[in-house]
Amino acid sequence: MDLDKYLKAAERAAKKAGLMLIQNIRSNREISFKGEVNLVTNFDKQSQEIIHDSLLSVFPDHDIISEEGLKKEEGSDFKWIVDPIDGTTNYVHGFPVFCISIAVEREGETLVGIVLDPVRDELFTAKRGEGACLNKKKIHVSDIDELDKSLLTTGFPYDIRESELNNLDHFSNFAVRCQAIRRCGSAALDLCYVACGRADGFWEMKLSPWDTAAGALIVKEAGGCVTDFHNQRFHSGKKQVLASNGKIHKQMLEVLKLGKI
Ligand code: IPD
Ligand code: CA
Ligand code: CA
Repeated sequence: MDLDKYLKAAERAAKKAGLMLIQNIRSNREISFKGEVNLVTNFDKQSQEIIHDSLLSVFPDHDIISEEGLKKEEGSDFKWIVDPIDGTTNYVHGFPVFCISIAVEREGETLVGIVLDPVRDELFTAKRGEGACLNKKKIHVSDIDELDKSLLTTGFPYDIRESELNNLDHFSNFAVRCQAIRRCGSAALDLCYVACGRADGFWEMKLSPWDTAAGALIVKEAGGCVTDFHNQRFHSGKKQVLASNGKIHKQMLEVLKLGKI
């Protein structure tokens, strides 16, 4: 199947939205709260609209869902999954780590995924069966095979204050068993960093399809491994994600077993 048309449409949509986000990075934002620490801004919504309009202008019959509620679900085989800003808390604080994540699935199978970091002008892309790229150059996961020497990333759920299932147990279990952990604030970029070898592994719980759909395909196409915490096949409906270079996957699964899964 010619996947290029999907990739091009996703790139065009993400670039338009990315430009708007960069132009407004120092503008006043209207912030509302979806939860005590779960923010949404007018720019999440603006980005969402730009992406919807752009994608639907090319594929008017396709379905589309995105984080801030815009959706069209009319039973098409094709479904676009959009995170208009992944890393909203960072964006609000001017901490320059956030991205736009877009994937398209057909009957539950991700065909194309793209993640655009508009600050660094880094575009991560993957086409099913055709590998993954960063700014059009092929990328590959790292080859570190010891957890002890690995750099990991993770994130925490928005109900961290209320729920006991908040990843703090896994965080401390990994912290004493790996080289270091980073909490970047964007799950989609965390996945892309595993894909290009900047990190060796990433785990997180309570994620949504828009956080993971594109990034998971990018990791797999870069030669990595993506499962849930029980080593079962990952799909974008799963809330747990464990992504690694493959070589440390078993070691990470063992550490996860020490905590609440
Ligand atoms: C969040 C980010 C963060 C992760 C959260 C996500 P948002 O997405 O990916 O890194 O820890 O679980 O919800 O809300 O910025 O789109
Ligand atoms: Ca997100
Ligand atoms: Ca978001």
